Amino acid sequence: MKKILVTGGAGFLGSHLCDRLVAQGEHVLVVDNYFTGSKRNIEHLLDCKNFEVIRQDICIPLYVEVDEIYNLACPASPVHYQRDPVQTTKTSIIGAYNMLGLAKRTGAKILQASTSEVYGDPVVHPQTEQYWGNVNPVGIRSCYDEGKRAAETLFFDYHRMHGVRIKVMRIFNTYGPRMAEADGRVVSNFIVQALRHQDITIYGDGLQTRSFCYVDDLLNGMMALMASDDAVTGPVNIGNPEEFTIGGLAEQVIFITGSTSTVIHENLPRDDPRQRRPDISLAKSLLGWEPKIRLDEGLKKTIDYFRGVV
Ligand SMILES: NC(=O)c1ccc[n+]([C@@H]2O[C@H](COP(=O)([O-])OP(=O)(O)OC[C@H]3O[C@@H](n4cnc5c(N)ncnc54)[C@H](O)[C@@H]3O)[C@@H](O)[C@H]2O)c1
Repeated sequence: MKKILVTGGAGFLGSHLCDRLVAQGEHVLVVDNYFTGSKRNIEHLLDCKNFEVIRQDICIPLYVEVDEIYNLACPASPVHYQRDPVQTTKTSIIGAYNMLGLAKRTGAKILQASTSEVYGDPVVHPQTEQYWGNVNPVGIRSCYDEGKRAAETLFFDYHRMHGVRIKVMRIFNTYGPRMAEADGRVVSNFIVQALRHQDITIYGDGLQTRSFCYVDDLLNGMMALMASDDAVTGPVNIGNPEEFTIGGLAEQVIFITGSTSTVIHENLPRDDPRQRRPDISLAKSLLGWEPKIRLDEGLKKTIDYFRGVV
């Protein structure tokens, strides 16, 4: 049985990861300050002998003994990471610094949940890991984009200087049950609006494209990366390369929910990327990983979850 720390374990991705690790019989310790996560996401695990939670901000150092660390703690949607941008930068950088210190002291392997946002508004399509990105350093999204970029730098410097075993994963848009209802992410927004038969808000003309990865696929990639040979440090893109327009997504959601909602258009927020799509060749060759779940299948499961929530 491994001792595994999951920071941000009460959030969307973290809680699904905990489900998997607990089911495998690992000893799982969650550290979360509930900034965007919720006890509800993990309450079904609280009685398990191999599951523990500490309420703590990762900006405060943590002294525990662990074999592996999944560093997921960070607000992930623009609504949340812009609410307190200084805290977002602190969580990204000081949090990563503290978790890397813990990995160094304990000899644990550590995985960083980085993001496609490190590519900013990319001028290269699709994005490979070699692309350095096109990021505004002083914009309203910079707290997250630059915070995650600096965290990647720290990961690689701890690896080069101290031999810490690192895994840097660049996560592209992921969706599924337990996304927060009001976090402004496009899939949950559309589903909630459709289930309430409210207008569906599209920012811009709806022709901008996104790729959407279902949470189960994402976790397969995350766990395969953690299990990979120590020589595999990443960064590795994990996401679904199939592209859909935002307008097309709205149509699918309306169709599956049988909603009477209609689509309305509002102005695009600043620095919103026009197009983003992962090149996943590296994940395929290194990890034998690729997503399996089609958008309509994943949407059905997510909509079923939201029917019980909204
Ligand atoms: N979901 C996606 O599409 C996506 C895409 C790219 C990257 N990511 C990354 O994956 C990770 C998880 O994302 P998610 O979608 O589950 O988001 P989430 O907001 O649901 O989960 C983040 C969790 O971290 C916790 N947290 C935030 N700041 C903290 C702090 N300072 N100390 C302790 N806990 C803190 C929150 O309370 C929450 O439980 C994040 O690091 C995010 O940047 C997610």
